[in-house]
Amino acid sequence: MGSESRGERHHGLKPYAEGKVKCRSKFKVWMIRMTTTVLLWTCVLQLTALGHTWVPRVWNGRPSCSSPSDVPIQGQQSTSAIVKKFVHSPKRIYNNNGYLMVSCNGGLNQMRAAICDMVAVARYLNVTLIVPELDKSSFWSDPSEFQDIFDVDHFITSLRDEVWILKELPPRLKWRVEKGSVYTMPPVSWSDISYYENQILSLIKKHKIVHFTKTDTRLANNALPLEIQKLRCRVNFAALKFTSQIEELGRRVIRILHQNGPFLVLHLRYEMDMLAFSGCTHGCTNEEAEELTRMRYAYPWWKEKVIDSVVKRKDGLCPLTPEETALVLRALDIDHRIQVYIAAGEIYGGERRMRALSEAFPNLVRKETLLGSSDLQYFQNHSSQMAALDYMVSLASDIFVPTYDGNMAKVVEGHRRFLGFKKTITLDRKVLVDLIDQYTNGTLAWEDFSSSIKAAHATRLGRPARRVTIPDRPKEEDYFYANPHECLREAW
Ligand SMILES: *[C@@H]1O[C@H](CO)[C@@H](O)[C@H](O)[C@H]1NC(C)=O
Ligand SMILES: *[C@@H]1O[C@H](CO)[C@@H](O)[C@H](O)[C@H]1NC(C)=O
Ligand SMILES: *[C@@H]1O[C@H](CO)[C@@H](O)[C@H](O)[C@H]1NC(C)=O
Repeated sequence: MGSESRGERHHGLKPYAEGKVKCRSKFKVWMIRMTTTVLLWTCVLQLTALGHTWVPRVWNGRPSCSSPSDVPIQGQQSTSAIVKKFVHSPKRIYNNNGYLMVSCNGGLNQMRAAICDMVAVARYLNVTLIVPELDKSSFWSDPSEFQDIFDVDHFITSLRDEVWILKELPPRLKWRVEKGSVYTMPPVSWSDISYYENQILSLIKKHKIVHFTKTDTRLANNALPLEIQKLRCRVNFAALKFTSQIEELGRRVIRILHQNGPFLVLHLRYEMDMLAFSGCTHGCTNEEAEELTRMRYAYPWWKEKVIDSVVKRKDGLCPLTPEETALVLRALDIDHRIQVYIAAGEIYGGERRMRALSEAFPNLVRKETLLGSSDLQYFQNHSSQMAALDYMVSLASDIFVPTYDGNMAKVVEGHRRFLGFKKTITLDRKVLVDLIDQYTNGTLAWEDFSSSIKAAHATRLGRPARRVTIPDRPKEEDYFYANPHECLREAW
């Protein structure tokens, strides 16, 4: 259990209401626990605000201002400098138009991007954002709250010069949530900021509180003011910091890996849920294929039921199998001695399916082999926390290779660009499966196979580039968080 690529898990959503009931009682406990903290923080902030009037404009200056050295590199260096900078920014003064509550849906990285979007929306509507609620009803039912994954106080204080964020609604408004009389809606996907200004703002003004029940891809990738794009980056790269518990463990894993030399993180998205919902059964036994199909039919929210695995794979829409991955990494001339860290949950088919990969790359490691079981005990049943750990290791790696373009793959790719265009190999699966099939049926010699693969990926290494924009076809555009070029050092 414990996979990181909750990315695709929007397909794994139960109706919102179910999760809501479960978390209401938890919310109360959380409320009590947090009240003390809120009080303490308020005092601290009042005091620090008095002592500091200087405003660092790290993020609000010129387009090329956000240099990687200004922000914490998760898992690599101390973040205290940046924390200080933001904590000392004075709170932005604005006329509060109301309150925005959001329930994020999907896996950790889909939610991460959504949190950045929602901060930007709240900022531009001059509303107060309530700390986002995380999805507890997706495939792996992780019960983690925001503050179990992210440093919530850092999140709030580091953004105080942009937008007000509260851990909960003010007491005078809370009864509305308890009575279920809050205006609730999913915003329209891929909207630009004018949708929020023209339609959502009036709703918030009218109802005082609006609750978004979905948050995935609700803000367009492109055609947004530069300030919004930069705010999305600021949230992603500076305001969202994992809890110290996760950071410490992540740093430990990274230290162990560094001691043993360079390492490649392989986001091997070959987990049961992925295969069941995608219908990709290449390389599986008949029994396995049947099991996966049964599973897909059993989940009502995996709507696509009849899938032709062969066609889908040929179209490049299946995650690479572990065997295919081994071939590709070898063809790319990846040193067979490099440590390969598997950032994933349980690989479907287990040892048997991993054999080709571990033969080609004997230094195969996972968090479970690097850490003692007692270290991971607490994380074990919290897939999002495991995912956070893998996220940190992925950022720190020398090479990052995802076998499928889910949300983790994309968000990590963008974050690595931000950290100085660290090498990320984004595989062209459509080209690859064709070459692999030619090689395995003997039509293509190894040398030709290898040079074709290298040629096909020469421009897919996470280097500076502009996002592809396709007006009117938002689903096909490059994803903002995979390449937030507005925020990268190379000015465009
Ligand atoms: C938000 O507040 C700023 C001043 O801080 C103001 O210029 C802007 O018009 C306000 N926008 C909305 C949507 O209320
Ligand atoms: C995790 O969950 C499994 C099954 O739900 C349970 O048996 C196990 O004790 C849990 N482990 C921890 C550390 O909570
Ligand atoms: C080998 O595989 C390729 C790609 O699928 C296919 O086009 C070709 O016809 C196959 N050749 C043989 C001899 O099976």
